Amino acid sequence: MAKAKVQYVCSACGSVQMKWMGKCPDCGEWNTLEEVVVPAVDAKRSSRRGPAGTGQGAEPVALRDVPPGAGERVTLNNQELNRVLGGGIVPGSVVLVGGDPGIGKSTLLLQMAAEVAHGGRAALYVSAEESAHQIARRAARLGIAEDELYVLAEIVTERILERIESMQPALVIVDSVQAIYAEGGPSAAGSVSQVRDSAALLLRTAKAHNIPVFLVGHVTKDGSIAGPRILEHMVDVVLQLEGERFHAYRLLRSVKNRFGSTNEVGIFEMGERGMEEVRNPSEMFLAERLPNAAGSAIAVSMEGTRPLLVEVQALSSHSAFSQPRRTANGVDFNRLLLLTAVLGKRLGLNLSDQDVFVNVVGGMHISEPAADLSIALAILSSYRNTPIAADLAVVGEVGLSGELRSVGQLARRLNEAAKLGFGRAIVPRSALRRGGADIAPDGMEVIGVRTLREALDAALAS
Ligand code: TYD
Ligand code: MG
Repeated sequence: MAKAKVQYVCSACGSVQMKWMGKCPDCGEWNTLEEVVVPAVDAKRSSRRGPAGTGQGAEPVALRDVPPGAGERVTLNNQELNRVLGGGIVPGSVVLVGGDPGIGKSTLLLQMAAEVAHGGRAALYVSAEESAHQIARRAARLGIAEDELYVLAEIVTERILERIESMQPALVIVDSVQAIYAEGGPSAAGSVSQVRDSAALLLRTAKAHNIPVFLVGHVTKDGSIAGPRILEHMVDVVLQLEGERFHAYRLLRSVKNRFGSTNEVGIFEMGERGMEEVRNPSEMFLAERLPNAAGSAIAVSMEGTRPLLVEVQALSSHSAFSQPRRTANGVDFNRLLLLTAVLGKRLGLNLSDQDVFVNVVGGMHISEPAADLSIALAILSSYRNTPIAADLAVVGEVGLSGELRSVGQLARRLNEAAKLGFGRAIVPRSALRRGGADIAPDGMEVIGVRTLREALDAALAS
């Protein structure tokens, strides 16, 4: 018979060490290694169990005989939420929602709970941070008064579980997972092992009773969800609510989704009545655009499966410093450096005495290389003080030799641009070849170019 052994598990990254150390060699965190006694496993009389809900001593069954799942998704009226969830709320799923403080997590989830309650199903909002009165005030402000919406101000995980089990609601929100603690555990609320233990308990209940549970998670300074990384592995879906404090737009991104595609984005606007869906985000992002202003280019970026038209602005102005400045807002800083270097080397643009500022309008952040061309053209347009035609949209990744590289999903991008009234588009020629001859939407002229120089000639010709 095997002997019980002792291991040390890092509560921050989940790595397993054979001996105790002050600093985790994997993630570099201090004092995170915790002793875990691994029980002896007798191969013949294994006491290990299958996943929660399967009972003990599960037998292997033919996969084709397993029913694909209990229950249907709860489809919401809120299209943006549906989109990021992959088509609605999956029963028994556990969803982690992260985001900076004040970004609107509580508001969005209260609205979602109200929607479920509106359909006559019980929704339980567990508030561990705010009092029931505060939640009621927020609800009043949002015009929420559903009969089936319940609030529970509770911080002890075991008591929350009891309520869930006796009430059997159709949806549970726990706001937040950092604020609750399991009485069974030794550490204080908010500590990494507490967060993990509480989440594990909630997870088991969700699976056992087939109840979807949404956990609000705090975010650390560097933008990751606070607490153990392992939390993100445990849950089914991880959503990130992003945006800037001074902009009304909020993006809900799906970072992980076991039931749908990731990188889907839901777009909301924080207004007087909470988080409102934005059905035509491109229109909104382009609303304040000045036609024929130098230093502005329209990029067609993909956010998940949705094409989004955004305005990229650049300003190049004579620098008062020996070391000219580069400022990137909404685009990757290193990408900006790379593009200014390519503009200098391949197009002979002398930016060495120019400060260059780049900004994506509306607080959007585009990380796709397909936006390269718009950034480069915006800088060129500002440098030459020549506007880019107002009906032109551009897509393309710029390579180090100044060549334009192909981008994915070109047809979708072009259709969206055509829908918003853009008459011309500059795209990489290679993408055009790949996409086929009929890729251009009706009424749109699609110009395929091979290099940044050709793109420049086509964009500033008019
Ligand atoms: P909240 O949902 O409390 O954020 P989080 O839970 O992510 O910390 O939202 C906080 C901000 O949203 C707060 O500054 C007020 C603002 N707000 C609105 O602008 N409109 C509204 O209808 C509501 C309820 C909040
Ligand atoms: Mg909150």
